[in-house]
Amino acid sequence: MRRSMRVQSLTPLVMVGCCLITSPLSAQLGGRPANEWAITLESGQRLERLQIEEVVAALGLRPGEVVADIGAGTGVFSIPMALTVGPTGLVLAQEVDAGFLPIIEERAGAEGVTNVETVLGAFEDPRLPRRDVDVALFHDVLHHIQERESYIHALVEYMAPGSRIIVVDYDSNVPGVSHSDEPEMLITPQQVEAWMADVGFEVSKVHQMFEDKFFVEYTRVD
Ligand SMILES: C[S@@+](CC[C@H](N)C(=O)[O-])C[C@H]1O[C@@H](n2cnc3c(N)ncnc32)[C@H](O)[C@@H]1O
Repeated sequence: MRRSMRVQSLTPLVMVGCCLITSPLSAQLGGRPANEWAITLESGQRLERLQIEEVVAALGLRPGEVVADIGAGTGVFSIPMALTVGPTGLVLAQEVDAGFLPIIEERAGAEGVTNVETVLGAFEDPRLPRRDVDVALFHDVLHHIQERESYIHALVEYMAPGSRIIVVDYDSNVPGVSHSDEPEMLITPQQVEAWMADVGFEVSKVHQMFEDKFFVEYTRVD
């Protein structure tokens, strides 16, 4: 069982798998055991609000594509994306919390899906096993990553020419948005656009699906 602790400092320290993590965002980054967090992630109300089917359909995934589900959680997007890319495609269900990986594997097994591969990443590097990723999805994840800009720099090393990165996240321009009382958790689409431009990805599609979240595709142009 993972435990958080404080040692003569105000900086929280958290055990994640094998490692002691020091981070101001550690309450979000694995501070809760995956099994406990899974209950929140899978709550009926949350799943309804996510519009998973509609989001996956809007991604326009093609059979045979390699997709990275960054911060996949319990895999609620990994499985429908795997079904969409079909048996010639692959979904890398990536997580920084090892406790989620068996949950995703069990879900894939129960659904008879064989093209999902779980991947344990690091906080600052997704550590994907391939460098030909066609689509990377951050769904409700980017605001949890402490060093977002450098994480995106690390991610692009795994992305194929012409590939897409897709971000669905809370838009802190919206008054009263989720996490609005946690300044370190706030991001805007304008910030993300600048980080993406820095690594050669341009906005290619803006989906208008949510009032409080932005849903934007960035395509590699370099
Ligand atoms: C709110 S959950 C979203 C899970 C899933 N994408 C969904 O929408 O159901 C955020 C997830 O991001 C993961 N996460 C946090 N920091 C991460 C990092 N640096 N790299 C990869 N995943 C991370 C957490 O472990 C957690 O499962």
